[in-house]
Amino acid sequence: MRILAIETSCDETAVAVVEFLDDGIVKVLGEAIASSMKIHVETGGIVPEVAAREQLESMIPTIEESFRISDIGHQDIHAIVVTQGPGLLGSLVVGVETAKTLALSWNKPIIPVNHVMAHLYGNWINNQSPETSHQKPEFPAVGLIVSGGHAEIILMTSHDEYKWLGGTRDDAAGECFDKCARVLGLAYPGGPSIAIAAEQWNGGTVERLLPRPMLHSKNLDMSFSGLKTAVLNYTRTNPDYDVSELAFELQEAIVEVLVKKLDTAIKLYNPSSLLIAGGVAANTRLRDALDILSKNHSIPLHIPELRYCTDNAAMIGAFAALAGKSVELVSVRPNPSMELL
Ligand code: KG4
Ligand code: ZN
Repeated sequence: MRILAIETSCDETAVAVVEFLDDGIVKVLGEAIASSMKIHVETGGIVPEVAAREQLESMIPTIEESFRISDIGHQDIHAIVVTQGPGLLGSLVVGVETAKTLALSWNKPIIPVNHVMAHLYGNWINNQSPETSHQKPEFPAVGLIVSGGHAEIILMTSHDEYKWLGGTRDDAAGECFDKCARVLGLAYPGGPSIAIAAEQWNGGTVERLLPRPMLHSKNLDMSFSGLKTAVLNYTRTNPDYDVSELAFELQEAIVEVLVKKLDTAIKLYNPSSLLIAGGVAANTRLRDALDILSKNHSIPLHIPELRYCTDNAAMIGAFAALAGKSVELVSVRPNPSMELL
């Protein structure tokens, strides 16, 4: 089965042509991505109206480019899939309306996809050579999705059955990186900027300058908004603060909370695999800490290739190939609650 996947939930216009392989893995035949990130770097964050306008311009050329790269035409695809939400309203409308128009004119079924769940499906994409062949995640799996909009823990018992176990009560982990980077005068997006600044800190083990919110709560809920306030207060009371030290501390605080919550989830649900996804999964410190956690519990850890950690259309296609259901009518859902998953 071949699928055309469209993702426009945030600032990217991403399109991929993916193929479902018999062994339950998805292969990417071609993909293209246009981003308005350069503009958002100048504004220090995403301006939704600007993102949607850019997406309107790049939507059709990006679809054409992904067909060209995959070397197939629309007659060779079996379905069109599109991110339905959560995301920015104007951006989602561009993708969903394009998908509906194409589905109608090419007479193909249309499959709506939840962006957050789709992040986990980066772990079912295999573009590697047979020698480094990708191991498919086993169920039950515990998944941690950490992005600019989410910090959620999900239990997957099959492709059709999953349960939301807990998540952030306020800011997402990536949002916390982004907001704190702004406080520290570092560039947007904040995650990579904080990670680079943290690497420059060579003061060894630092004192705990920042709190670890909800670290010892018994449930799998998290909270990251207080960290931003703590960073802000620290910079005000210590005007000669060291940016790299604070960046290091912030990264440690976020990583420690995420690892502790995942450790609790493993103890409660005894999964056969661990899945990490979302933009923050690109963080090397987090990847290293989760690697140790998975080895301590002897559970395989699955993290997508770097380009499938951040927003991309291949994961949308992978979700649809393995878990999607076609519908008659698709509408945008900017704010679906994770608890309803
Ligand atoms: O999944 P994603 O591309 O978009 C959303 O769906 O939100 O995630 C973007 C988020 C941003 O907040 C960005 O700062 C964060 O991922 N991020 C990172 C790193 N690379 C991206 N956070 C920490 N370390 C990184 N290396
Ligand atoms: Zn995302």
